Amino acid sequence: MKEFDLVVIGGGPAGYVSAIRAAQLKMSVAIIDKRATLGGTCLNVGCIPSKALLDSSEHYENALTNFAAHGISAKDIKMDVAQMVARKDKVVAEVTAGVDFLMKKNKIERFVGLGTITGSNEVRVGEEVLKVKKIIIATGSEPIELPTVPIDGAIVITSDHALSLKKVPKHLIVIGAGVIGLELGSVWRRLGAKVSIVEFLPRLFPSSDRQMSNLAQRLYEQQGFEFMFEHKVEKAETKGKAAIVTVKTPTGETKTLEGDAVLCAVGRKPYLEGLGLDKVGVKLTERGRVAVDFHSYQTSVPSIYAIGDCIDGAMLAHKAMEEGVACVEVMAGQAGHVNYGAIPGIVYTHPEVAWVGMGEEELKEKGIEYKVGRSFFKPNGRAKAMLEGDGQLKLLSDKKTDRLLGAFIVGARASELIAELTLAMEFGASAEDIARTCHAHPTLSEIVKDAAEQNGGWAIHQ
Ligand code: NAI
Repeated sequence: MKEFDLVVIGGGPAGYVSAIRAAQLKMSVAIIDKRATLGGTCLNVGCIPSKALLDSSEHYENALTNFAAHGISAKDIKMDVAQMVARKDKVVAEVTAGVDFLMKKNKIERFVGLGTITGSNEVRVGEEVLKVKKIIIATGSEPIELPTVPIDGAIVITSDHALSLKKVPKHLIVIGAGVIGLELGSVWRRLGAKVSIVEFLPRLFPSSDRQMSNLAQRLYEQQGFEFMFEHKVEKAETKGKAAIVTVKTPTGETKTLEGDAVLCAVGRKPYLEGLGLDKVGVKLTERGRVAVDFHSYQTSVPSIYAIGDCIDGAMLAHKAMEEGVACVEVMAGQAGHVNYGAIPGIVYTHPEVAWVGMGEEELKEKGIEYKVGRSFFKPNGRAKAMLEGDGQLKLLSDKKTDRLLGAFIVGARASELIAELTLAMEFGASAEDIARTCHAHPTLSEIVKDAAEQNGGWAIHQ
């Protein structure tokens, strides 16, 4: 029987980060994952492969639509789906190997197989029984499947399959206008598919600022996305090679859509299979996630902790990594902490959409008085040089103290621009602090400064 200070079950962003931090803090650590490669959903079938395909498809679309304006003529531009998918697989292989290297570097012992908690200080994986002081559950999440939308992996698919399609669908029907629907919808639209998105809710990004989500929707529609909001998918069936999706319209009528692929992207649920939580007495929340104390990440069993997608909160890799560090630091008697008010959300479409903090609707709901500062991509010199004039940035700050409360970006490189604003939120900066910070010229980051100046009523360039 092997003994460890800590066993982490799940090798995704939450799990591998917590394992490394624990090793740095001198714990003896083992990590268990059912996959042969570490990195979880994010590295294997989520964030990284989708970004690889988003980058490839963006290059293709740029070659078709923007090269001429740059004075480049390229004839007979062709794309090769198999090569794009193979490159994506290579990127995945490299990043997962990178995590493997980090495990070796930090002397973390790896076990491949399904981990089962058989006691408050015991974990089994295959034939191995591990005696442990502490256990972290970091088993992540899996796609939600609708009973009336049976997945066949060929015509009716989840995000896992949409990352490895062999050919471009003619008409892809996406169920759910969430992050996955928009990102993978973008990949296949850029490569030539007609993409229709059926969404139950009345708008995009319900937790974000409405005006900015409306702007994103308008830009997506200009690209050819077809949205059906307030439509509920009732069922999806296949008829030969066709997919028939039955939807209920806002007026209660039923209509059918026909395509050759249906992507079901209606959210994810915690993956807790085979863990044996009921046997050891680990309690779940009403929504089926592992219940934890959000300071220590301890579950109802004191030696068992949980972090990442399997606990409450946004299912985001960066949120999971923060929890991995905080959980282990608190375990080691340090002051680990996650600031849930400063976790950015990003949609890697084009233009990108990124936000942090509260939007206007949330601020009004909470009765917080605020000031708005807005800037546009169009007048920014770097954006012009890049042909990236579409987009806006909005800052919301406290009316009395000027402290930054939220930031919303729709535009090129929003995923990078949001980092400065997240740091500002973390440091409790005011909008004026941002406005009076020197931003390099010419950069897109000047759009951040512009909005902060406008927030103070003295925008120089807008
Ligand atoms: P999501 O929760 O973002 O969106 C699912 C959408 O499906 C919701 O808007 C919901 O109203 C809609 N829906 C549910 N049932 C429906 C029905 N019967 N008919 C029509 N619409 C229906 O979930 P998604 O996109 O599957 O992503 C899962 C998780 O993965 C999310 O938590 C997301 O944050 C995370 N993720 C994050 C990424 C990023 O940070 N860039 C990328 C991909 C995923």
